[in-house]
Amino acid sequence: MCGIVGYVGAEQAAPILLDGLARLEYRGYDSAGIAVVSPEHVLQVKKSKGRLQVLRDLVEGGKPIEGHLGIGHTRWATHGEPNDVNSHPHVSQNGRVAVVHNGIIENYLEIKEFLQAQGVHFRSETDTEVVAQLLEYYFNDCSDILDAMYRLLDRIEGAYALGVICTDEPDRFIAARKDAPLLLGYGEGCSFIASDVTALIAHTRDVAYLDDGEVAIVTKDGITVTDALRQPVEKERHFIDWDVSAAEKGGYPHFMLKEIFEQPEALRKTIFPRVHAGRIAFEELKFSPDALRRVRRIYIVACGSSYHVGMIGKYNLERLLRIPVETVLASEFRYCDPLVDETTLVLVISQSGETLDTMAALREAKARGAYIISIVNVVGSSIARESDDVLYTWAGPEIAVATTKAYSTQLALLNLLGLYFADELGTVTQTEYDAIVEQLLTVPGKMETILADTEPLQCLAAHYFNHDSVFFIGRNLDYALGLEGSLKLKEISYIHSEAYASGELKHGTISLIVPGTLVVALGLYGPLFDKAMSNVIEVQARGADILALTTERHAAEMRKVTEHVLVVPDTHALLQPSLGVVPLQLFAYYVALQRGCDIDKPRNLAKSVTVE
Ligand code: M6R
Repeated sequence: MCGIVGYVGAEQAAPILLDGLARLEYRGYDSAGIAVVSPEHVLQVKKSKGRLQVLRDLVEGGKPIEGHLGIGHTRWATHGEPNDVNSHPHVSQNGRVAVVHNGIIENYLEIKEFLQAQGVHFRSETDTEVVAQLLEYYFNDCSDILDAMYRLLDRIEGAYALGVICTDEPDRFIAARKDAPLLLGYGEGCSFIASDVTALIAHTRDVAYLDDGEVAIVTKDGITVTDALRQPVEKERHFIDWDVSAAEKGGYPHFMLKEIFEQPEALRKTIFPRVHAGRIAFEELKFSPDALRRVRRIYIVACGSSYHVGMIGKYNLERLLRIPVETVLASEFRYCDPLVDETTLVLVISQSGETLDTMAALREAKARGAYIISIVNVVGSSIARESDDVLYTWAGPEIAVATTKAYSTQLALLNLLGLYFADELGTVTQTEYDAIVEQLLTVPGKMETILADTEPLQCLAAHYFNHDSVFFIGRNLDYALGLEGSLKLKEISYIHSEAYASGELKHGTISLIVPGTLVVALGLYGPLFDKAMSNVIEVQARGADILALTTERHAAEMRKVTEHVLVVPDTHALLQPSLGVVPLQLFAYYVALQRGCDIDKPRNLAKSVTVE
């Protein structure tokens, strides 16, 4: 949700913090702030409601703020409305401690009452302010900020990544984490903390991941880490080989468009290294064929678009493996007493690897004895590290809040895994295996042909952008794909949109179809194309305005009943959503563009959802 960054070194801290926050802004963007310790050991705090640019203007790019150590924050509000006072950093009563925080302190009210009873005066409505106030309270008692920090961590409950500066300790700052991401960056004569690597790669590629319960003391000469028992920890260092340009727009007007166009390459990186001479090989997978043979049930758990990938996975994996597959929203999973034991395989899907609900579902499944394989994009993220096995989607950094290339690579990887398992179990014929593998390898190229001509989509977006309600309908894989098309459209264009299994319309929802209602009808899934046609005719009879999506094979037939038809190349039926999703992403993008929406940073959203 929120993004945090910290710096100590020879350079002026403020401009570095602002640049870091610019890269983290996708994580939350309702307010931002920085705190820098001056050479005279005075805390300088600047924060403001609104986008980072408001803060940048306020502090004139940071140059007038002198100091070599500081922390910064970009916020997605949880406790207290977005305003200047509730923005981070939060400062303790006597101004000795400043804190930035990502996460939620669950017992903040109880601590607040305790501190108020001690005469502490609070300024904000946030949970985070209790961290600053409690730290100062403990520091007043022990005069050792590290000791105060450990006492604080014993007292607070919830999820947090924390960056803390103390004016009595002008050469170092402290960081801690539990259930929220935090990276340590090792530079030449400087050190950093950040919520993710995008904020660091302009300065260093040498990073380590702070683990739950660990505390880091960050100085310009290095970083020391201790665990929950205050014992020293030797952190494993990782080299980040992402290109800086991967996290920049590179000439595109929006990250979302850039990321849509990056999909063919991202797919090649995800698929090709795992297919050798027509055979799928997951060299990184520890899960053995024997263990696979013991699996009686598969759960796929995820949120949002990752869940939609899982919905396609349910259809495809069940068909390929003949094992019951259930796809469950991660936010529901842990509260539904799931039927999980040692014979259960749980597939966890997450772009960020930090989604709190998904993480909680993973832990629940693990505690009940399941084997966990996660499909994750962010290397070293919490979900990746807590899984028994992790398969990475090599999509590179995804910055736009609306996911595109992560969705596509997750889907490709899940299909690849399903097919690999089916081959191990002998539930797929050699002919079908070969046919799917062959088609999978051609998906990136076919996607390029769709991307080569976006004009029809721009025209259709111009035609439809004024609609205020849209239905996506389809059956089977088309229904699962419709869920994603609908989410894409609503989250960035703010048009009300719903996805329905076409066969279900007549059980209630068809009463909402009136003359002029826009229905996006998906007729991509070959085996059910005739049924898709019937549903088009059914809603057309109620006056719906139809935008149909089908494949080259069925285009002529679809055009007989409706005028606006988008066409994608044919592929194997199980893979068709991989191509069908591209026009839906582009449609959402161009509609949002027509409506003047803030495409990369839609209202009320954040890229990484680290609160429940
Ligand atoms: O990082 P994750 O894949 O775990 O995120 C899950 C959802 O928050 C995410 O897919 C969200 O629905 C997308 N931003 C929608 O485009």
